[in-house]
Amino acid sequence: MKNREYMIIMKHILQLIDEGIHVVDPEGNSVVYNRAMAMLEKMESQDVLKKPFAEVFKNIDLNESTLMQALSKRQTTMRKEQTYLNKDGREITTVNTTVPVIEDGELIGAIEIAKNITEIQKMSRTILELRREMDQPQKSKAHKIKKYSFDNLYGQNEVFLETLALAKRAAKTNASILIYGETGTGKELIAQSIHFASDRQSKPFLAQNCAALPSNLLESILFGTSKGGFTGATDRPGMFEQADGGTLLLDEINSMPIELQGKLLRVLQEQYIRRVGGVKDIPIDVRILATTNEPPSELLAKGILRKDLYYRLNIIEIDIPPLRQRPDDILLLAEQFMEKYNKKYGKKIWMMANSAKQKLLSYDYPGNVRELENIIMSAISMAEEEHVLLDKHLIVNRRKSLPQQDIYELKEGGLDEYLAGIEKSMIENALVAHGGNISKAAESLKIKRQTLQHKIKKYKMQERHSSCDES
Ligand SMILES: Nc1ncnc2c1ncn2[C@@H]1O[C@H](COP(=O)(O)OP(=O)(O)O)[C@@H](O)[C@H]1O
Ligand SMILES: [Mg+2]
Repeated sequence: MKNREYMIIMKHILQLIDEGIHVVDPEGNSVVYNRAMAMLEKMESQDVLKKPFAEVFKNIDLNESTLMQALSKRQTTMRKEQTYLNKDGREITTVNTTVPVIEDGELIGAIEIAKNITEIQKMSRTILELRREMDQPQKSKAHKIKKYSFDNLYGQNEVFLETLALAKRAAKTNASILIYGETGTGKELIAQSIHFASDRQSKPFLAQNCAALPSNLLESILFGTSKGGFTGATDRPGMFEQADGGTLLLDEINSMPIELQGKLLRVLQEQYIRRVGGVKDIPIDVRILATTNEPPSELLAKGILRKDLYYRLNIIEIDIPPLRQRPDDILLLAEQFMEKYNKKYGKKIWMMANSAKQKLLSYDYPGNVRELENIIMSAISMAEEEHVLLDKHLIVNRRKSLPQQDIYELKEGGLDEYLAGIEKSMIENALVAHGGNISKAAESLKIKRQTLQHKIKKYKMQERHSSCDES
């Protein structure tokens, strides 16, 4: 085969394989940047190719880049696992191998190969979960749902009470409902409460998290499978059939792949399903509730949720406000949780010190009610003989808010350590707020990017965040 033909074939192979490949020449210009790599890094090949690496990936500290290290120090990095958020905010896990290419003692370039193992990881978790379910079928997730009703929902905030009133009215109808709220605001609780207050209460309530499974598995779990559909397939009803007459909660619908959204829409419109690989149309009568932790308007704008499906689901929309917007619920909820965990752990903590109340009120709860519940749960479980809950029992996640402890109560570390703690938590805040993007985080903190990078290294925070806007 001629050299040219050989090159053409190589080129095609590079574009076809699933691994991301990035090659730079000795001067640091990118000479190969295949489709898989571009998809992984959310870049366009033409923006990278034939350009200096340092110029294209401006946010990268060249000392951190394995590719640049391979060039400058002839360093090899084998199978290094990295987890980062890509530009869409999704968590990606890759395994990277980087090698310098040396011919007759001369460096002729460096190659980086990145394998996206996000789906594989997800799949292996799923397999474990399914195996566990097979071992103890009666304990399967779908069936051991804890029964919650409106009586379990506490709150006195006006907006929250309006939300509850709407949910109670919605329970009396048969309409599809889209429930929007940040994580931990009680979406699942509301969904269940609606079911158990509806005419369908004596029929099944099933829930499926759409983010937990890869697309094809989610499809067969929802719609069922038919013998001959694919190798090894058996005749098995899906959740739509199992929930017949009842309610099906599609949790985190924003994670449902767009093709599957199309199929779901058809089911909702036509009121029958067809199992994967099956030929029969099976009529169903299932009420659909769906939740999302991102605002529906954003999902539509970003094209994550199909408009037609949105209109079909959103016959009634219930928005649950985040806890920081209803501070009047914080202590009320805290007291409920104190009672619950006193009972559970056999403790007798009857009241809360003012300092503890202040601490609870000054926190902003990025994890909402779930986070508040966890804070109280661990406080109660750790308290020894006391009958009063003190602020020292409350371990709030300082990564996302400023430290609340009394500045005069310095521990061993002294002033430097205390200030470092504040600095660290502010950096964490900024990184979280900007999806790990160092440049933007630095801008919001009004410091130089290099300074921020230095501090990240100093506090050993780099693993998760610094890789976000790097390759
Ligand atoms: N209004 C509320 N009253 C009592 N507990 C609540 C309330 N809202 C949320 N919770 C608690 O918070 C936790 C998270 O609720 P969940 O419905 O799973 O949130 P989401 O689905 O929105 O992430 C639940 O364990 C529940 O105990
Ligand atoms: Mg949930």
